[in-house]
Amino acid sequence: MSAVGHGKVILFGEHGVVHGVPALAAAVEGGAVVEFTKVDGPTRLHIEPWGVDVQVADAYDGPERSEPLYRALCVARGMYDDDLELRLDAVMNLPGGAGMGSSAALGVAVLRAMDQARGLERSVDEMIERSLEWERVFHGNPSGVDNAMAASGGLAVYRRGEPIEPVELRGTLRLVVANSGESSSTKEMVASVGRQYEGEPERVGKIFAGMASIVQNARIALASGDWKSLGQLMTLNQALLNSLMLSTGTIEEMIETAKDAGSLGGKVTGAGGGGCMIALAADEDGQKRVAEALRGMGKDVYEVEIAG
Ligand code: PMV
Repeated sequence: MSAVGHGKVILFGEHGVVHGVPALAAAVEGGAVVEFTKVDGPTRLHIEPWGVDVQVADAYDGPERSEPLYRALCVARGMYDDDLELRLDAVMNLPGGAGMGSSAALGVAVLRAMDQARGLERSVDEMIERSLEWERVFHGNPSGVDNAMAASGGLAVYRRGEPIEPVELRGTLRLVVANSGESSSTKEMVASVGRQYEGEPERVGKIFAGMASIVQNARIALASGDWKSLGQLMTLNQALLNSLMLSTGTIEEMIETAKDAGSLGGKVTGAGGGGCMIALAADEDGQKRVAEALRGMGKDVYEVEIAG
């Protein structure tokens, strides 16, 4: 038996989403797959491509060990008041720590496996809420966009504290996601934006308002398959992220390279300050050209296709 959680790319509205602005994100379907079998115990998790093994100790609440994955597994196991133990084997189809929502995808897959083993069924909204507990172990105070997409899949607008809204899409959205190779800490980048907002509420408030209207316009562009406008909106969103000091020289170079290869627009995706960028391609050939150009820079590149 197996259970799935999805990865994600944020198309518009990262950082604003922490402060109540809507974000528009696309799921990378099947990012984490967890197979499970009942065992005598204790519950353990093996992650194949990362060679990671963790096992829940006797005390589910308040473990002293510090590894996030261990603590997250304890949190998940602690949600069930019974003696059913599982061996969980995860296959990750996403890079870790690259802004593609791998921890949330894994969390949803693990919690779904734990539910399925007990014959439990939950709504997507319930799963979003439960998986936020898992996500908090990794990201402190996440907006919830990663675990919302991990549970829901598809293309959606997410706003903190509100139910997820599916977004209409006409045609096939073709994205190229590339890792800059520069490590960045989501926690630090979120804190930096928080400090800027505190210090200059008017300026940063205007930036967030700009992001909110970009999200609204992006919905219209997606519903009509207007890739040219969508690309322009990405470029605009990138300018706003840049003014919050979330881009880097390498990411700017990658956006430029993608543009020279025919991309319609590109931006940081996720926390910024390194990590990943996304570029929008006009069609399948364009996607291959953009991907090749970014691979030519020595970057890890993922071609993501979202069908309407
Ligand atoms: O870097 P990621 O994929 O974890 O994305 C972070 C997105 C932020 O909006 C910056 C933070 C959040 O919790 O939404």
